[in-house]
Amino acid sequence: MCGIIGYIGNKPALNIALDGLKRLEYRGYDSSGILVLDNKNSENGGKYNVFKSVGKIKNLETEIADSVVAGTIAIGHTRWATHGKPSINNSHPHSDCKKNIWIAHNGIIENYKTLKKHLEEQGHRFFSETDSEVLAHLIEEFFSHNENLEESVRLALKLVKGTYGLAVVSVKEPDKIIVARSGSPLVLGVGQNENFVASDVSAILNYTKKVVYLDDNEIAVISGSDFTIKDLNNEPRKKEIQLIEWTIEESQKKGFPHFMLKEIFEQPESIENSLRGRLIVEDGLAKLGGLENVTEELRNIERIIIVGCGTAAYAGRVGEYMLEEYAGIPVEVEIGSEFRYRKPIIDKKTAVLAISQSGETADTLEALREAKRKGALTLGIVNVVGSTIARETVAGVYNHAGPEIGVASTKALTSQLSVLALLTLFLGRQRNMSLTMGKRIAEELKEIPQKIKIILKQNGTIKKIAKKYKNSKNFLYLGRKYNYSIALEGALKLKEISYIHAEGYSAGEMKHGPIALIDKNFPSLFIAPRDSVYEKIMNGMEEIKARGGKIIAIATRGDKKIARLADDVIYIPKTLEMLTPILSVIPLQLFAYYMGVSKGIDVDKPRNLAKSVTVE
Ligand code: G6P
Repeated sequence: MCGIIGYIGNKPALNIALDGLKRLEYRGYDSSGILVLDNKNSENGGKYNVFKSVGKIKNLETEIADSVVAGTIAIGHTRWATHGKPSINNSHPHSDCKKNIWIAHNGIIENYKTLKKHLEEQGHRFFSETDSEVLAHLIEEFFSHNENLEESVRLALKLVKGTYGLAVVSVKEPDKIIVARSGSPLVLGVGQNENFVASDVSAILNYTKKVVYLDDNEIAVISGSDFTIKDLNNEPRKKEIQLIEWTIEESQKKGFPHFMLKEIFEQPESIENSLRGRLIVEDGLAKLGGLENVTEELRNIERIIIVGCGTAAYAGRVGEYMLEEYAGIPVEVEIGSEFRYRKPIIDKKTAVLAISQSGETADTLEALREAKRKGALTLGIVNVVGSTIARETVAGVYNHAGPEIGVASTKALTSQLSVLALLTLFLGRQRNMSLTMGKRIAEELKEIPQKIKIILKQNGTIKKIAKKYKNSKNFLYLGRKYNYSIALEGALKLKEISYIHAEGYSAGEMKHGPIALIDKNFPSLFIAPRDSVYEKIMNGMEEIKARGGKIIAIATRGDKKIARLADDVIYIPKTLEMLTPILSVIPLQLFAYYMGVSKGIDVDKPRNLAKSVTVE
């Protein structure tokens, strides 16, 4: 997830672009850059200036300092790295070989390796490690034949697989910005003798409230006075101008009151991004480019130790069950802070897999370093590209879940679970998993984003249930097998953002202690999908009911039996047992969110917590 801004009009464009990038910073801040182009009719027509910097937008602001640049066309970009570490070379805008064509891109070009190879064979020289740069060279290739920027962009996009929000300018046609969208958002801002483009409206609301949302497979040509929109086959599209009534802050959160809620609702999309280009359903395979250099070592490993902290460790525990059941590899999960100080037994046949959203958590990082010293193969599942853990592991898989702003992890967790399912498929198919099983997992995984959308439709019901329980002082979260870890995660989420005491427990273990706590004021939340332990968990529910305890249940759609026992039920669609945690955790995130909000807590920044804990 990156941010794009574009301006064309009669004012100096540099500061307008910088202001836009500041508003888009929440979309990522690994690096940023602005390209300013002089208008065709000015005395410098066709000249350009480029500014780039690594890190937050304030660094770009320092870089620009007091530069006076007259150009009235600009494209800018704030990067959330996916391919290539955060660096000046990898910062957008990227150019073609001759520095005539400049692009800012948000999304992932899945077939960039093939395109890059082909372009290099044609003599193109690449300056960065990004997937995005191929777009500039591909457009250059067409432009060298037809000398028409719009047509060149259109032809280039026809060859591209993946997602893009794209803005293109050229010194050869310094009177327009070409923009296009497929899968990554873009909105046009309509002003008076000036027009804008941005990844979201927050970047342009200071200048205009009139916008046109681009749809997938649309290309727009924007000048200072006009814009036209067509589809990829050159057919004109008629679009309505809409009037925006949001404030800037509301629009950054896409109208959601908190980043956390926005991120919960983003999960169908973030999982889609985690899976993109990685599932070969017809062959029941997972393609994980980041593991290519260790494919043979992975064939020979005899054991995996997963390390992580907080929510990431709970993801790891689900991964343990997946990998043992379907890939047949012994797995242990350990929290980073324990692993680093004891004497774990590790050898060359052990892979240590670190799971971390930020890639910077000190305990996870030190555990990893200790594993490395002992000779283990180190792997990572990390969201932030170029982070320390990503750099220090030998191989790994990026989440591509986009930046997570809310302190309590939501979309990073479901992405970690999805990647663990991909890893299970990858390692399982290297070993004994059958084609039929591989296909089954791949098919079910592909359906997950759609199923999450169904769960999110129950937002209103979950809010009502939270309201009903808002005065409870304690909660017991119970689950078994794949959903044991989700019980722990649900309880953690409630503690983190509502400050209500909650215990996560294995439903089977509940009778060995926690049941003593149960009375009418101590509600239990059961995660009880129709899986292989369903009957067992129903016994636990009967035991709680018999002691007057209130019950909220997460159940599979169509389960009438549970409705007779539980006081409140939230339904999730059916899926493969190993994938149920990706669905069952969604209502728990929403429940915790509404409990926190009902107590007036700033759920995006709960007290005493930090998004990335880089101290012991
Ligand atoms: C902090 C955060 C948690 C997170 C944990 C691990 O405690 O508040 O939400 O799960 O760190 O973070 P990581 O970035 O390594 O996934």
